[in-house]
Amino acid sequence: MNTVSVRARWEDLPLEVRAAVQARLGSSVVEVVYPEGGFTQGLAVRVTCADGSEVFLKAVDLAARMASHYQAEAAVGKHLPTVVAPRLVWSLEASSWIVNAFESVRGREPDLRPGSADLNGVLDVVGVLEQELTPCPVSGVGPVGETLSSLAGHWARLAAAGAGSGGQDSWAASRRVRLAELDDPDRLVKASVGDTLVHCDLRADNMLAEAGTGRIRILDWSWGARGAAWVDAAFFVPQLITAGHSPAGAEAELGARVPAWRAVDPEAVSVFAVAITGYWAWNQANGPGGALGAYRGRAAEAGRRWIDYRLG
Ligand SMILES: Nc1ncnc2c1ncn2[C@@H]1O[C@H](COP(=O)(O)OP(=O)(O)OP(=O)(O)O)[C@@H](O)[C@H]1O
Ligand SMILES: [Mg+2]
Repeated sequence: MNTVSVRARWEDLPLEVRAAVQARLGSSVVEVVYPEGGFTQGLAVRVTCADGSEVFLKAVDLAARMASHYQAEAAVGKHLPTVVAPRLVWSLEASSWIVNAFESVRGREPDLRPGSADLNGVLDVVGVLEQELTPCPVSGVGPVGETLSSLAGHWARLAAAGAGSGGQDSWAASRRVRLAELDDPDRLVKASVGDTLVHCDLRADNMLAEAGTGRIRILDWSWGARGAAWVDAAFFVPQLITAGHSPAGAEAELGARVPAWRAVDPEAVSVFAVAITGYWAWNQANGPGGALGAYRGRAAEAGRRWIDYRLG
């Protein structure tokens, strides 16, 4: 992803934190490599030690708003099979920072476009999630309905803001009644009950295609929650649309691999599509610009196409 990184650098970590990390590694850090892009400010680096070992570190100040996500990632990481995610090697808290160390995977972001050499591996690993992560292996994660219900409700806010400013979103205006009917957090909560560990942020930049083997691993489990396995497939549909798939094609690819997708009430998927698209549209209009704003704009556009496909 060609974004300008806002990430912290290894030198930004307090000396005591770097000392604690190197004590835990049992060797001093001699090389630091930063991945491209990223939307968050925490540290994310591949480090090589004097003894030749390599590890991937993610770290943030515990005072930061997203610190709880790093703590969640550490709690979830312990229970993830290596077939779906890089292994969590350790997690430590020192001088009010949290540092998570993962198996370092040499690879690159997979290409989700139709016909890409990565696509089958990506879809297969999305299919493997239900099988590997049911029953939910982590006891401390909350229900996914909590996350999903916070996505809902943005269409009413967009309509109110549009009416207030005299601005018009003609796409939303011509679908106003149906969007209002479907933008329902309670239905999402009910339809998403289940006992699978769901990722909730499946996107190409939270995946790595391993160099050499092409094997796909899923990163960034900080939004992990307990719920129905169809939810991760639903999160992935707009990502596939953004990459060039038709809504029908994206749904069919996932349906072929995710049993829970085939069993879900179709209206629940429409409710999901409406909620997440409203979330992106609202946050694009009211959040930061830059790479994140541009991403939300593309995602909202994919979401509108998905809704049109589903609602006919
Ligand atoms: N175990 C790993 N091995 C190698 N590279 C990794 C590993 N984990 C993460 N990365 C790289 O670091 C990037 C950021 O990782 P991750 O998505 O987990 O962090 P984040 O701080 O939540 O960032 P973002 O806001 O981009 O989602 C990934 O896109 C990937 O390039
Ligand atoms: Mg990420």
